[in-house]
Amino acid sequence: MKKIALIGFMGSGKSSVGRILIEKLGGRLVDTDARIVEKAGTSINDIFEKHGEAYFRNLESEVLKETLESDATVICTGGGIVLRDENRKMLNELSKVVYLKASAKTVYDRVYNDESRPLLKGKKSVEEIQSMMDSRQELYDDCAMYTVVTDNKSVDKIVAEILEL
Ligand code: S3P
Repeated sequence: MKKIALIGFMGSGKSSVGRILIEKLGGRLVDTDARIVEKAGTSINDIFEKHGEAYFRNLESEVLKETLESDATVICTGGGIVLRDENRKMLNELSKVVYLKASAKTVYDRVYNDESRPLLKGKKSVEEIQSMMDSRQELYDDCAMYTVVTDNKSVDKIVAEILEL
């Protein structure tokens, strides 16, 4: 069976959905952000602050490749995984890509109190989130095999929809 990779903007529900999905499917769940933190031995905020975004993106591609070649069955990715062509290509070749699509308002409600995302620091309005989302929209659509809208849905409902697909 091919792996399932969850993509989507920050706060779209990838991690929560991944945790329930793996309970239903069995196998091994890998969260690429968590692997990056493990490898780097420090937080994502710290990686961005000390080494910059390009360094983070290199680590992200490296971790994605390792994960896609491993026995992982469900992969939760970081919201920016789609930014690199090579990542989208690898995801398409080696997994079934499910795009969790949330509105800017949903994302805002989920992230406004959370300081763990360097790219949202000082950018916490629905409009700013919308504009960042717009700049990535084409990439998510391009990479997605399936799209599930997550607004106003419970995690169980989202997982049920993915299992149906
Ligand atoms: C990022 C999303 C984050 C994390 C990093 C960059 C992005 O992951 O990888 O802060 O560029 O969208 P989540 O989508 O899990 O928040």
